[in-house]
Amino acid sequence: MPLSAVVLAAGQGKRMNSKRHKVVHPVCGKPMILYTMELLDKLSAGRTIAVIGHEADQVREVVGSRAEFVMQEEQLGTGHAVMQTEPLVGGEDGTALVLYADMPLLLESTVRRLLEIHHETGAAATVLSAVVDQPRGYGRIVRDAEGRLAAIVEEKDCNDEQRSIREINTGISCFDIRKLFAALKRVTNHNAQGEYYLTDVVGILREDGERVEVVTADDPAEAAGVNDRIGLSEAEAIMRRRINRQLMEAGVTLIDPEATYIEAGVKIGRDTVIWPGCILRGNTVIGEDCEIGPQADITDSVIGRGSKVIRSVLSDVKTEDNASIGPFAYLRPGTKLAEGVKVGDFVEIKNAFIGKGSKVPHLSYVGDAEVGEGVNIGCGVITANYDGVAKHRTTIGDHAFIGSNSNLIAPVSIGKGAYVVAGSTITSDVKDEDLAIARSKQVNKPGYARVLKARILAKNKKSDITERKG
Ligand code: UD1
Ligand code: CA
Repeated sequence: MPLSAVVLAAGQGKRMNSKRHKVVHPVCGKPMILYTMELLDKLSAGRTIAVIGHEADQVREVVGSRAEFVMQEEQLGTGHAVMQTEPLVGGEDGTALVLYADMPLLLESTVRRLLEIHHETGAAATVLSAVVDQPRGYGRIVRDAEGRLAAIVEEKDCNDEQRSIREINTGISCFDIRKLFAALKRVTNHNAQGEYYLTDVVGILREDGERVEVVTADDPAEAAGVNDRIGLSEAEAIMRRRINRQLMEAGVTLIDPEATYIEAGVKIGRDTVIWPGCILRGNTVIGEDCEIGPQADITDSVIGRGSKVIRSVLSDVKTEDNASIGPFAYLRPGTKLAEGVKVGDFVEIKNAFIGKGSKVPHLSYVGDAEVGEGVNIGCGVITANYDGVAKHRTTIGDHAFIGSNSNLIAPVSIGKGAYVVAGSTITSDVKDEDLAIARSKQVNKPGYARVLKARILAKNKKSDITERKG
């Protein structure tokens, strides 16, 4: 049976109180609507149509080529929204699956079960319900004497008895396409909200003697629609637990999963240990046998196997195996560390390559630089890469030694095996194997410390007397 998916995303989502469309808000780093799109990918739906309206451009941009778009200029209800897709799918035989773009927690297995039962029973419509403690705001599933679905009644249209029903409409449903559009044409807006309800299709089909089925979700949390920021945080918490659980099942140790924030796109290898307080975001990939954290904030980075990252911030960084980073390192975009590189405390690196086994152990800034293998960069070394107008590069050859507190004024190049003496300010290139010293000569004056102190004391006394006089 050909499957066409219709994703409703035209509504305003007023309760988010946001400049951004509700469905582009991220849950664990991924825009909400992409969870729906990825689910549909797995179901290999023949066609996916997103109904958009409010902030349509934002939704279009996020969804991209994953769907075709239909504009619903005026949001006159969910039934009206589905009606807009008639020119695209109305003429086809097959099944239409209707989803809302604000249900990121929905599981593929549940939708599969919904479709299976729909096809097995040959129903005209099959609706996904859930039994919840707090049915407020949802449409209620009203069953007849035989326990079959009779109608879905929106809360605002419920009588007291109906309002007490705890089985609700999740909003996910599937239909025989021809019967859906035939019934939609008969839906009116004579209800409390003056809207064309998709849910009225169920009652219409029943009246026509068509078979209508209900499938109940195992876990009501799955069916939660995000309506406001509170719902967003709740969805985030559930998604976070799911992600963490999958990682632990795949062989990653999370010392304290409740204090570990890992976004949906992150991949982590086996036997890696994640200490509490870590935030791993974007397209980060961490190899096997790493030790990450406590408190590592890593975005869009690739960390080689056997590496350590302690209390550091990394963004768009790539390391080969056995890197050692932190505590308190700040590695900015374009940082590339070869195998076994050590970056220690209070070091900032940006747009720089550090060669195999090199060390930047403490208090350095390395920016726009190319550093060879086995280089030692002493404490407090700075690449002065910016002259106030443009950025310039520094190159340091293999096995060079850069003494503590040196300034390398770029553009400058230090040769292989060269030695820069501590405290130097290097303004011109140093050749291979050369030693550079660039600091003023030290002068020692024997016994002069006492003379100086006496002079200072005398001066202070004098100004003391003048002050008292004045
Ligand atoms: C809807 C259901 C209700 C169900 C609840 C589950 C109807 C009439 N009611 O109610 O039974 O319990 O979802 O969350 O279907 N949308 C459009 N165009 C419109 C109206 C809505 O695209 O004209 C989209 C919204 O962007 C949203 C979805 O449809 O993604 C649901 O709309 P919403 O207004 O939130 O429906 P509810 O009142 O929550
Ligand atoms: Ca809703």
